[in-house]
Amino acid sequence: MTKNKRQEPERASLRVGEKPRTTETVRNMFASIAPAIDFLSSLFSFGMDALWRRKLVAQAKIKSGEKVLDTCTGTGKLAFLLVKKVGAQGSVVGSDFCQEAMDIAKKKTAAAGISFVLADAAKLPFDDGVFDVVTVAFGIRNVVDTSAALRETYRVLKPGGRFLCLDLTYPQAKWLTPFYDFYSFRIMPAVAKMILHTDTPYNYLPQSIRAFPSAGAFKQAIENCGFSNATVHPMTFGIATIFETYK
Ligand SMILES: C[S@@+](CC[C@H](N)C(=O)[O-])C[C@H]1O[C@@H](n2cnc3c(N)ncnc32)[C@H](O)[C@@H]1O
Repeated sequence: MTKNKRQEPERASLRVGEKPRTTETVRNMFASIAPAIDFLSSLFSFGMDALWRRKLVAQAKIKSGEKVLDTCTGTGKLAFLLVKKVGAQGSVVGSDFCQEAMDIAKKKTAAAGISFVLADAAKLPFDDGVFDVVTVAFGIRNVVDTSAALRETYRVLKPGGRFLCLDLTYPQAKWLTPFYDFYSFRIMPAVAKMILHTDTPYNYLPQSIRAFPSAGAFKQAIENCGFSNATVHPMTFGIATIFETYK
């Protein structure tokens, strides 16, 4: 008797625990969770994502009249904080390659004064040297070609311009890692599955954090792309880190 080979269902999403490998799979994943991402980010970080973004804004020391680009802006949470700082003479552009996320951003009333541009962070559609500040929050870790995104960031900054990058980083404290691993590998995907009916994006999240370079290695990667004097600001036991540097 010949065994009937079962047809593998077409897999638009990822295997459990698998890191998306192409720009397309990352984009599709963010498109699928766009309506829930604001809620889930606050839920899973116990609201700390908002504090970390505010810390980045304080660190950026944005002056009235400056031109700011927020890449991987998603639903615009960081862009809304930035636009309050630039005043009427300044401007904020939010860019992301996920139309679904930016459609949500544009509907928020706080979106007034922000231009949203559909763009891959690794191929920015802006001239050289036009922005005073470039920011990215919880985005660079997801960009498939991180070096290209860093080089593009450098290119679009004015000489002396600042780059501030906030992302989730794997904590180094030995006492914390068992709790962190349990929470991120077990609790988060299980809760996400109840809400999204798939645990794929929140299996990807802890994987992507572990795949992200250490703070020291990422600082080096930033400097390898032309930036100077990168400084590293770990927050909340190193669960999140701000990288700050200059062109
Ligand atoms: C976790 S969300 C962060 C959104 C927002 N910055 C915030 O603070 O909440 C990551 C965003 O990065 C975007 N992203 C990932 N890779 C990208 C790329 N190569 N180019 C542009 N956007 C990208 C995704 O579409 C998603 O909206």
